[in-house]
Amino acid sequence: MAKDDNGGKDIIAADSPGAHPEASAGTAVVARDAVANPGLPPHRKRVTDLDPKKERTAERTVYTLFYLSIVGSVWAIAAYMIFPIIPEDTGSVRLNNLFIGIGLALALLAIGIGAVHWGKAIMSDHEGVDERHPVQGTDETRARAIEIFQEANEESGFGRRTLIRNSLIGALVAFPLPAVVLFRGLGPQDENPVELLSHTMWKKGTRLTIDPSGTPIKASDVTLGSAFHVIPEGLVDLEHGRLEEKAKAAVLLMRLKPQDLNELPERKDWSYDGIVAYSKICTHVGCPVALYEQQTHHLLCPCHQSQFDVSNHCEVIFGPAKRPLPQLPIAVDAEGYLIAQSDFTEPVGPSFWERS
Ligand code: FES
Repeated sequence: MAKDDNGGKDIIAADSPGAHPEASAGTAVVARDAVANPGLPPHRKRVTDLDPKKERTAERTVYTLFYLSIVGSVWAIAAYMIFPIIPEDTGSVRLNNLFIGIGLALALLAIGIGAVHWGKAIMSDHEGVDERHPVQGTDETRARAIEIFQEANEESGFGRRTLIRNSLIGALVAFPLPAVVLFRGLGPQDENPVELLSHTMWKKGTRLTIDPSGTPIKASDVTLGSAFHVIPEGLVDLEHGRLEEKAKAAVLLMRLKPQDLNELPERKDWSYDGIVAYSKICTHVGCPVALYEQQTHHLLCPCHQSQFDVSNHCEVIFGPAKRPLPQLPIAVDAEGYLIAQSDFTEPVGPSFWERS
């Protein structure tokens, strides 16, 4: 009869002599041909265990690698400034990526190689056997764990070898620093991001045009139930920043029966004969709200299924979005073309910290 590891419950083989008659061949568990535990091979000392000079050399190698890692991190930051990305110049992108990459690779590799070398050449290499036990440790186990940590600290020299320890801490602290610089580089340069997010290309008198052709839209072109994807006049002619501007200024134009619009008194003159314009940028995380259900007057954002009710100033009726889509006040000019009365009166798109 065999006992299991967790409390001595009897385990028997179905076909062993004296087996319980109910024991099933499919569930009885016992190793009938168990291999004897060969034990651990005898410990072999390393050169660094036998020769203090070699140990010192290994120690020097390890902290040199950690210092090298710091150099790599600092170089990555310096490379970001020495080799800036120049708009429209792909060569500058290549140089920027190459030298930042070299710095980051050196920083990470040197930490990795240093840590492995420390473990293999200097830290104690005796092998221990850790028996399996229940997940919750007893008081003795926990006390032993603390002992093990103390032993590990003693044997690795983490507390004692201050040069290695401090250089490793320095390398680990320095390594994430390039990320701060790189993330900053994703934001707009020399411009106030809050201002940029608060304003779009729309201004008084800008004509509404069809996306992507840029053809101006007459009020008479917008039939009942139709929806247009709209961009501001002049956007297609922009040489720089066209996508950035479009990402803020894109609009959806729809025509409903005037009696289907529940307009607030202060927004009565923001529409024209049932034609309304709303930002196409979802207030959840900024996907284009591109699906219009003309029977229900609902707009659907395909990203996370937020729904907006066009007849009630695009209030959110379902989904994770928290704000209605901003409305663009529109009118008609002397030639019958739809024009904006002003920019949006609030920032478009998702919330951000400084949004008022
Ligand atoms: S981006 Fe529109 S619902 Fe998430």
